[in-house]
Amino acid sequence: MLSQQQLKQQAADAALAFVEEVAAPDVVIGVGTGSTADLFIDGLAAYRGRIRGTVASSERSAARLAGHGLAVFDLNDVASMPIYVDGADEIDDHLHMIKGGGGALTREKIVASVAERFICIADESKLVENLGAFPLPVEVITMAREAVARALRLLGGQPRLRAGFTTDNGNVILDVHGIRIAEPKGLEKVINDIPGVVTCGLFALRGADVALLATQNGVRRLDK
Ligand code: A5P
Repeated sequence: MLSQQQLKQQAADAALAFVEEVAAPDVVIGVGTGSTADLFIDGLAAYRGRIRGTVASSERSAARLAGHGLAVFDLNDVASMPIYVDGADEIDDHLHMIKGGGGALTREKIVASVAERFICIADESKLVENLGAFPLPVEVITMAREAVARALRLLGGQPRLRAGFTTDNGNVILDVHGIRIAEPKGLEKVINDIPGVVTCGLFALRGADVALLATQNGVRRLDK
């Protein structure tokens, strides 16, 4: 029986096949955040010298990439990237996701939006029929915290401030419990439209293009 850590490793390793496909001296790879993304970063180290470098979705990932000697570019200096590789807190079979358990959701959404393909790597425990058991992270400008919390309550959720946490962008996170996610794309738009919300952790408007889900019987691939 493989441990969760071994399953994450398998998913991260499977993503390296996508890097292999696109590797070239002018290519930049988008890199996510989290424990599974960390394993991907460690594998990506072997591509030092074969790719131009990376764009990171967090300070944490940037430091890990730099530690492996991989170049980390500012997104403003990169016009395109073939793939963005990242984990998820939940993913459904439409490849809609909840992300942001690590608090990096906004930069993740930005970097992913520039990539041609989003490759999600996870162990199979992240695959769910309906999104929402995992509390939905929402990044909020600090002065709007209570106003946004009231609006989220009107949508049926119970927002809780992530205590002692500030995002890389200097904002706070409200983790929304119990919100019904019947239509992920619609809810993503509605929450993102609340004044003071930077972005919510629903990745449905731009979900993943490929999911590599590690199971006890190998890596299962789902395509959009
Ligand atoms: C980071 O903000 C998140 O979106 C992560 O991608 C997500 O929490 C998955 O993390 P793990 O790979 O650690 O489960």
